[in-house]
Amino acid sequence: MGKILVTGASGHLGRKTLQHLLKRRPASDLVGLARDPGQAADLAAQGIDIRKGDYFDYGSLVNAFAGVEKVMLISSAPFVDRNAAHYNAITAARQAGVKHVAYTAIIRREGSDFNLSQTTGPDIFAEQTLMASGLIYTIVRQPAFLETFQFQFGDKVYEKGLRVPAGDGKQAPASRDDIAEAQAVVLTEEGHENQIYSLTGDPAVSYADIARILSDIRGTSVPLVVVTDEQYIANYIADGLPEPFAAFALEWVHGANLGEWGELTGDLERLIGRKPITTAEYLRGTYPTAVASIEAAKGNKAG
Ligand SMILES: NC(=O)c1ccc[n+]([C@@H]2O[C@H](COP(=O)([O-])OP(=O)(O)OC[C@H]3O[C@@H](n4cnc5c(N)ncnc54)[C@H](OP(=O)(O)O)[C@@H]3O)[C@@H](O)[C@H]2O)c1
Repeated sequence: MGKILVTGASGHLGRKTLQHLLKRRPASDLVGLARDPGQAADLAAQGIDIRKGDYFDYGSLVNAFAGVEKVMLISSAPFVDRNAAHYNAITAARQAGVKHVAYTAIIRREGSDFNLSQTTGPDIFAEQTLMASGLIYTIVRQPAFLETFQFQFGDKVYEKGLRVPAGDGKQAPASRDDIAEAQAVVLTEEGHENQIYSLTGDPAVSYADIARILSDIRGTSVPLVVVTDEQYIANYIADGLPEPFAAFALEWVHGANLGEWGELTGDLERLIGRKPITTAEYLRGTYPTAVASIEAAKGNKAG
């Protein structure tokens, strides 16, 4: 088997994918792409070849992909020319002789015309570019990451409630770690050639479900507070988020409320061979300070 390269090695998902690959392949088979290799020094220290490359520097990509058989293309961040970034990466991979490229799109519902700006159009463009390239492809569509999930409802849920526009759709977020493990499986096992996966967590949750989960964790009510779109944006800006990010977060909330990401496919569970971490388990682990202080307060009362 030839070398496997993962882009975004300095980022969360790329790094975790390489860490899972290390459990399946010797480090000498693994390559990471980073704009600044120093940002992936931890991976280099484990023997992974970290190569310098930028999606907007075509020559750097062709050089970095030399001698590589498979590329995991972690999608570019929003608010840049993502079409150019992904086109460059796919075309450079083909020019460098790569055989198989996997790409991380965001999940889309079959037949839906919902458009997540910065995302849906560039994802369709990247998928079509890849499928027309003649390369072996795997599309690994992603749900909301549990680690960035509160981007949708802000950090102040305990003080102010879960403030989102009305809707009862569900979504099925998953952890980056489970997604990264699934990607490592796709890159190291047979049978994933020319496949499209939608990696959904399980169970799907609505915002009302999340408010209930947080209330349960906290031990007191965390209300679901229905706000207008305008209030949602204003709340986010008041909490310090720039307007374009607030508008982007609002689009995620609209998608969730419409049930755009609510279908359960079982792909993630099948790939990793176990149940993915649930939203409730994840949230229980990430609101520990409040839980601990409540537990302590209860303990003091009991004492
Ligand atoms: N499903 C979700 O909920 C969700 C949430 C957030 C993001 N995403 C998408 O998933 C991707 C991975 O997420 P993540 O959490 O791992 O994001 P992340 O931690 O921000 O990592 C993004 C990676 O992309 C690299 N990158 C950015 N621009 C690049 C360029 N021009 N050339 C080469 N590399 C470049 C970054 O390198 P530097 O270290 O040099 O910046 C970084 O390593 C994101 O880029 C975004 O498209 C999905």
